[in-house]
Amino acid sequence: MIPRSWCVAALALSLGGMGLACESEEPFPTLDELDQLRSLHSLSSHPRLDSTNRVDGQEVAQKLGFDLFRDPGLSRCGTVSCESCHTGDGRTVETATAEGCGGQRTERNPPTVLNVRHNRWFMWDGRADSLWSQAMLPLMNPVEMDSNADIVRARLVAEPSYQERYRTLFGTEPASVAAPLLMANVGKVLAAYERVLMRVEAPFDTDVRRFIAAAEAGSAESDPAYLGLKTFVRKGQCIVCHKGPSLTDELFHNVGLEDSGPGAGGQWAVLNSLLDWEFNAAGRYSDDPNGTDAQRLRTLRTQAKQVELEGAFRTPSLRNVALTAPYMHTGKETTLEDVIDFYNEGGDPEGTFVGQRTSTIVKLDLTDNEKRALVELLKSLTGTPR
Ligand code: HEC
Ligand code: HEC
Repeated sequence: MIPRSWCVAALALSLGGMGLACESEEPFPTLDELDQLRSLHSLSSHPRLDSTNRVDGQEVAQKLGFDLFRDPGLSRCGTVSCESCHTGDGRTVETATAEGCGGQRTERNPPTVLNVRHNRWFMWDGRADSLWSQAMLPLMNPVEMDSNADIVRARLVAEPSYQERYRTLFGTEPASVAAPLLMANVGKVLAAYERVLMRVEAPFDTDVRRFIAAAEAGSAESDPAYLGLKTFVRKGQCIVCHKGPSLTDELFHNVGLEDSGPGAGGQWAVLNSLLDWEFNAAGRYSDDPNGTDAQRLRTLRTQAKQVELEGAFRTPSLRNVALTAPYMHTGKETTLEDVIDFYNEGGDPEGTFVGQRTSTIVKLDLTDNEKRALVELLKSLTGTPR
């Protein structure tokens, strides 16, 4: 880094371009930026237990969930399981949308279920506020598993090992329990399994920790992670939304993605139904209807402003992103290079999306080296399986 005083001298000698470049460029990272970097690494591989799910953390539930996740017998067509669309290393599919019962296609790109227990909201539009209530949605979605409580019940009853473990966990018979409770309980079992789908510690974590030490020692600029982190934090503004150890703010933004589908309204379109949903964290099937998750839901009600939520989708975690192409809720960005180009252009042209693009998304003027460094940074986020 050229010392600042030199830049001022260069300006005085009216070496125009050089002087200006130096002036706008404080050494990276500043103390604030260093704090932001400190938030990024070391995601826990043991997320807190979900108090709204009484079987979370129980081994019996986790094992039963493992079996149910893979069982196409829970679908009406008998051929689609959770695993059909959340498969392989990336726990998703390699196409923009996925195929459910009868060859129907999902509207959106399936997100990974890796590290999913760390999420605060589920689905691209956040229409579920717990992992267990989320699991009921694909079961009952006509284009996914097209199922219902009768089909799920018949499958549990037909398989003695399912029936027995269900009884151990909930103290009732799957044959006699009311339909909504049965579905909520099956969701809780699936969620108990999903909490162990962790892929956390990644080369990125090592890089960030080493970079912080280098910055503290005054040698940040010679660190190999310098350009990637600097662009992520400064010129790219990625860290405004992709922050914290999961690299997400767990909020919803309209980044201006081309989308004319029926779900283009994003969070705004689903907010009221989530708040009124009997399966939400404050509802009658929650095991902790007055806990912190339920309070968070109530906060959402008071904070909701249409202009910020229309066309807004959840900031996804960037961990393991190299395993989960294609990208965005539309699945329209094929590679990580395409995602960087999208941000570099300041999003898709106005008029191709609903609502108003958030003001953080602007043209970036990244150099080829900066683009490459961002792609490398994203690729370094692939974690080791637990
Ligand atoms: C036919 C494909 C398909 C099937 C089958 C399927 N999913 Fe998904 N899954 C998706 C899609 C598509 C989304 C995103 C939907 C949206 O956001 O509107 C998704 C979202 C999710 C999410 C939310 C992830 C996040 O980051 O918000 C979880 C968790 C999940 N699915 C788990 C499951 C479970 C459990 C099952 C089985 C009960 C299942 N899925 C069955 C396609 C599928
Ligand atoms: C204003 C907040 C915001 C900023 C700034 C931002 N992102 Fe995002 N990012 C999001 C949201 C929201 C999505 C999901 C958008 C959607 O699908 O509708 C997303 C999606 C992504 C994805 C796709 C992930 C997936 O699983 O499909 C990648 C990769 C990504 N962002 C990287 C970046 C990088 C690199 C930068 C900086 C150049 C950046 N983001 C800046 C909010 C932001």
